Amino acid sequence: FSIDPPVNEPVLEYRPGSDERARIQDELQRLRNTPLEIPLIIGGRPVKTGNLGRCVVPHDHGHQLAVFHQAGEKEVAMAIEAAASAAGKWAAMDWGDRLAIFNRAADLIAGPRRMTLAAATMLGQGKNVYQAEIDAACEIVDFLRFNAFYATEIYRQQPRSGPAEWNHLEYRPLEGFVFAVSPFNFTAIGGNLPSAPAMLGNTVLWKPASSAVFSAWMLMEIFMEAGLPPGVINFIPGPGAQVGHPVLASPQLAGIHFTGSTTVFQNMWKTVAENLGRYRTYPRIVGETGGKDFIFVHPSAETEAVVTALIRGAFEYQGQKCSAASRAYLPESLWPQIREKLTAAMGTIKVGPPENFENFVNAVIDRAAFDTISGYIDHARQHEAAEIIAGGGCDRSSGYFIEPTVILTTDPRFKTMEEEIFGPVLTLYVYADDAFEETLDLCDRTSPYALTGAIFARDRAAVGTARRRLVNAAGNFYINDKPTGAVVGRQPFGGARASGTNDKAGSILNLYRWVSPRTIKENF
Ligand code: SER
Repeated sequence: FSIDPPVNEPVLEYRPGSDERARIQDELQRLRNTPLEIPLIIGGRPVKTGNLGRCVVPHDHGHQLAVFHQAGEKEVAMAIEAAASAAGKWAAMDWGDRLAIFNRAADLIAGPRRMTLAAATMLGQGKNVYQAEIDAACEIVDFLRFNAFYATEIYRQQPRSGPAEWNHLEYRPLEGFVFAVSPFNFTAIGGNLPSAPAMLGNTVLWKPASSAVFSAWMLMEIFMEAGLPPGVINFIPGPGAQVGHPVLASPQLAGIHFTGSTTVFQNMWKTVAENLGRYRTYPRIVGETGGKDFIFVHPSAETEAVVTALIRGAFEYQGQKCSAASRAYLPESLWPQIREKLTAAMGTIKVGPPENFENFVNAVIDRAAFDTISGYIDHARQHEAAEIIAGGGCDRSSGYFIEPTVILTTDPRFKTMEEEIFGPVLTLYVYADDAFEETLDLCDRTSPYALTGAIFARDRAAVGTARRRLVNAAGNFYINDKPTGAVVGRQPFGGARASGTNDKAGSILNLYRWVSPRTIKENF
């Protein structure tokens, strides 16, 4: 007897004239013209605080999609209480019934809610239709279905029993609540961070990024529609410190499921350390943070494939993926060919609002991101070790637009080779062909991060060398492929060093963190 794992949700193509294209265009119109007021959800009930945040369209920042109520200390206390009241019943529920709720949520997203969630992601987070589809339709559906499947695998793993003894592993949830803090850049991560611990019987406080509350709210509605009992996931958007501090100081904090910046994650560890004496149990801390992801090209590489990977890896979703390629090492012998193909391809990239389906690059998320990214471009412009060979334009008059930008540097430790920018900026360094191995070591040492990376080579020995020398440089290492676009169930995702705890989202490894097994032995 065996149960097959789910299959990945197929990607819709939204071709001109297709039914799905017409449907999503209608949905974009509808969401744009229907102002929303988003409450908190605590114990299954809407709560309004009057302390309002705004959801605006990044490519049309004069347009407000929604206002949302923000949580403060009082609402955090209410949410902790609601989570505690829901915990017993939720943990005691038959796990098959519990997991069915998340499979139902997946079916709603794959079916009747697909256009709404994708359109919300296009408008609220500035994704083009393809990026919205692979995130807010396929990846979230995959997270829900695969995690539900992995959870059943965990529950079935049992120790051997003897002739006169019965042994059992009881996969209890953690004793307390899990704090899920999700980023703006993936609606799917917004759905995964609260749902993965909840599947294993935990109750959750969920704080989505303020710049992605619009799609997060739609997800919360879907979870409730799927039958999630009150208090299991409590939706508490609000400013990081205002929400985070009282949550992290609670004696009932039992876990953190985080994706976001390295600095915020490190501050959470510090706050946890300060509160250590208060907790009933050691909190499980799971986090995926920044990256300075690389593409490393060997002289034996196929240049057409390299150029495609550079463009897709660096500029899809404006480089705002933690996995985005932001530095590349190119061999001198291939550089003239790559330069020619890359600049020609860069000339064809269309930049503009995602409602025009031809635009490949859209706006960056907000003013703060715009300022940071344009600051890095200015730095390169002013520095003699760097030359901007494509793009460089920034315009925030109606939306936060930054042209896809390529910087060429003679200094492998140049600021834009080392620091995470989180925008459409790629820095290239050209190395002498005979310095392949030293340059691999340099790549390994150049940044504190270790999330994703890629080697391009036809020479198998070179692939082996890169794989060995870069053993700790990336948690997801790609051979002849771009470093973005991990698929749930195929490429478990996450990195170590300053990139996180490497607990591999979209795999059984992540789910193990949300159980506290009890071993039971009975003699008879
Ligand atoms: N999982 C995404 C990717 O691989 C990043 O979060 O691109």
